[in-house]
Amino acid sequence: MGLQLITHTITFDQEDKQMALVDWNDNLSVNIKEVDSEHKKLIGMINELHSAMGSGKGKDAMGKILGGLVEYTETHFSYEENLMQKHNYPGYLSHKGLHDALTRQVRDLQSKFREGKALVTVEVMNFLKDWLTNHIQNADKKYGPFLTGKGVV
Ligand SMILES: [Fe+2]
Ligand SMILES: [Fe+2]
Repeated sequence: MGLQLITHTITFDQEDKQMALVDWNDNLSVNIKEVDSEHKKLIGMINELHSAMGSGKGKDAMGKILGGLVEYTETHFSYEENLMQKHNYPGYLSHKGLHDALTRQVRDLQSKFREGKALVTVEVMNFLKDWLTNHIQNADKKYGPFLTGKGVV
């Protein structure tokens, strides 16, 4: 556990700063093509934000990337919600509740950033990375078998 925390804090050491923060791996697949490709795009955007931060990009550039990430996250959440509703997924409401909570948190972060009250820091990056990967691995993977069972590919 302690070792893992240390690994995160050294991510921003000089030589490591261009490394991807999070890599796609098959454990993240929900076996639905469009959803996987959207998740890959989200991971790519988090990595982009991470490398922009590592190379000391200015506030405007960071704000743009963060804005794009927020927007695409909402697009992705709507896509999943429509898919779940269309197939009467029984966990729809609780899943939507998680999306709504995450959206509020990220929107809140975005407005603090805009007002100059928050910086995109290592903690923010780790928060985004963790919420995305945890959400995919826990919530999204739960609807995977249900929807593939309904013929969604
Ligand atoms: Fe998702
Ligand atoms: Fe989701």
